Amino acid sequence: MNAALLARLRAKLAERVQAGLWRKTEARLSHGTLLNLANNDYLALAQDPAVIAAATEALQVWGASSSASPLVTGYTTIHETLEKTLAAWHGYPHGLLLNTGFAANAAVLGGLPQKGDVVLADRLVHASMLSGILASGARLRRFPHNDLNALELMLQEEAPVEGVVFVVTESVYSMDGDCPDLRRLAQLRERFNFCWILDEAHATGWEGATGSGLQEEQGVRVAADIVVGTLGKALASHGAYVLCHLPEVRDALVNFSGEFIYSTYLAPSNAAAALAAVQRVQALTSERPALHQLSRDWREALTAAGFSVPAGHSPIIPVLLGDSAVALKYAHGLREAGFLVSAIRPPTVPTQTARLRISLRRGLTPENLHHFLKAMKGLPS
Ligand SMILES: Cc1ncc(COP(=O)(O)O)c(C=O)c1O
Repeated sequence: MNAALLARLRAKLAERVQAGLWRKTEARLSHGTLLNLANNDYLALAQDPAVIAAATEALQVWGASSSASPLVTGYTTIHETLEKTLAAWHGYPHGLLLNTGFAANAAVLGGLPQKGDVVLADRLVHASMLSGILASGARLRRFPHNDLNALELMLQEEAPVEGVVFVVTESVYSMDGDCPDLRRLAQLRERFNFCWILDEAHATGWEGATGSGLQEEQGVRVAADIVVGTLGKALASHGAYVLCHLPEVRDALVNFSGEFIYSTYLAPSNAAAALAAVQRVQALTSERPALHQLSRDWREALTAAGFSVPAGHSPIIPVLLGDSAVALKYAHGLREAGFLVSAIRPPTVPTQTARLRISLRRGLTPENLHHFLKAMKGLPS
C-alpha cells in the first residue's frame, strides 16, 4: 500500500487507541445467553413467529435478493404495498422506501436543502442527518439540545433569509432517549413556515396509540413536513422510509437521490417482515401504556440506586457516567453478570458524557430489573 496513506491511517488509529476510544467488531452468537439490552428490537418482534413467517414466505416467492436497484427491477409489489401501508399508518399521502435510515437521512438532507438555504438542527441529531446537511451546501446552525426557545430566536434571526429554512429534529433522541415538545415545534412551524424534517426512528412502535410515533403520541400527527423512519428497530427488519405531504418530495428523491437510484434495493423479504411487524405493532395498542411504565420503573430504580438517569418513558435509557473508561468498565462488568449493554463514548456523544445505553424490550420482567440493579450496584465506579 502507498506508504503515506499507511502512515496516515496508523497515526489516526493510534490516536483512537491513545484516547481510549478504540472501536472493534465483535461477532455475536445466534443464541447467546446474555440478556440483550443493547439492540433496538424494542417490541421483541425480530423473533416474532408472524414476522418470521412473512419473511420466509417472501423468500420462497421472491428469492433472497431484490437483485437490482429500484428504478431497474428492484422495486416490487411488496415494496409498494409496504410504502403505502407505512404512509397510511402515519397519515401521510406519500412514502418511499430506502435501504437504511442512514441513507434516508442522507438522501433527504443531502438532496432537499441547497446552497443559500439554512438548516437549523438540534445539537444532538443523528450522524446521518449531519452527513446529509454537510453534503447539501446549505448553511448549518445548531441549536442547544431540545431548546426550542433558542430555536425560536434563530428563526427570528433567519426570517429575512431568501432561501428555504429547514428545521431538523428527532422525536426520541438515539443516545439520550429524550424527546422535544412536538406541539411547540408544530406551532413554530405554523408561525415561521419552515420545512420541518422529523426522524421518528426510535419512537416508531413505542409511541402513539397505534405505535406510529411521537407525533401521534403528542397529538400532532402529520405536523412535520417530512418524516424519516427506519425498519431496522421496532419494525424488526432492515431498511427505512421517508413520508411526505407533497408528491414532489417523493419525485425528487426518486429522480435525484443517489442513495435511492444507485443501490440494490432492500430484499422483498425485508419488506415482508416489516409489513408483518407493522400489523403486530398496531395490535399492541393496549400494551403500550405498560411499556411506558416499564421505562419509568427502570429509570426510577436506577435513580434510586444513585445513578444519573433522566426521567422519561422512551425505550432508551442513558446511564450517564462521564468518563469513557468508567463506561467501558461498567459494560464489561455487566457482561460478566449476564447483560449485554453498550458503552457509548465520544465521538458518538459529546466528550465527558460517556454512558451506558440501555435499550428496553417488551417482555422484560421485574426479575430482569432486580438482577440488573444488583449487578450495577456491585460494580466499582
Ligand atoms: C435517529 C436515527 N436515525 C437514523 C438511524 C439510522 O437508521 P438505520 O439503522 O436504519 O440506518 C439511526 C440509527 O441508529 C438513528 O438512531
